[in-house]
Amino acid sequence: FPLLLLVAVAGYLLGSIPFGIVMARLFGLGDLRQIGSGNIGATNVLRTGNKLAAFLTVIGDAGKGGAAVLLARALFAEDAAQLAGFAAFLGHCFPIFLGFKGGKGVATWLGTMLALAFPLGLVACATWLVTALIFRMSSLAALVAAAVSPVMALIMGWNSLILISIALAALIFHRHRANIARIKSGEEPRIGRKQSQD
Ligand code: G3P
Repeated sequence: FPLLLLVAVAGYLLGSIPFGIVMARLFGLGDLRQIGSGNIGATNVLRTGNKLAAFLTVIGDAGKGGAAVLLARALFAEDAAQLAGFAAFLGHCFPIFLGFKGGKGVATWLGTMLALAFPLGLVACATWLVTALIFRMSSLAALVAAAVSPVMALIMGWNSLILISIALAALIFHRHRANIARIKSGEEPRIGRKQSQD
C-alpha cells in the first residue's frame, strides 16, 4: 500500500506540470490565464496563434500522462499504471503548482489512455479528431471522445479499463461545465480562432 501511495503522489506531481503555462512563457505569449478561455491547455495556447507552442503543449501534457503510466508499469504492475495515469490526470486538473486551479485534462487523458491500452487510446484520439474536424470545437470533441471511451473499452474487451474510463469521462465532463453551457448557447468558439478576451 505505501508503494501505491508513492505511485499516486509521483503521478500527481508529474501531472501537475502545466506545459501550456510553460510553453506560453517560453514563447513569450504571456500568461495563458489572461487569454481566451483562461484555460491552461493546448486549445487555449492555439488562441495566441502560435501553433508550435500549442503542439508542444499537447505533447507535454499527453506525454506526462503517458510517462506516468509507462513508468509505473515498468517499475510495478498494471494496477499501479492505472493509478499513476489517474493521478497524473488529477495533477493536471488540480495542480499543486497553480493553487489547484488547473486544466480540463483532455491531452493528459489521451496520453494516459494511449499508454494504458494503445488501441483504445487511438480510438479516443480518432473520435476527438473526427468530431473536431466536423464541429471545429475542441471542447465538444473532448466530450464526445470521453463519452464514447467507456463504451469502446467494453466493446473492445478492455474490461479492466471500463471503470477508469467512466471516472475520467465524468471528470472531463465536470471540468467542461462552462464549455457545455457555451456549446448549448451557441457561444463556444471554434478551434484556432484568435481571441484575447472571453
Ligand atoms: O482541452 C480543453 C478543451 O477541451 C477546451 O479548452 O480553452 O476551449 O476551454 P478551452
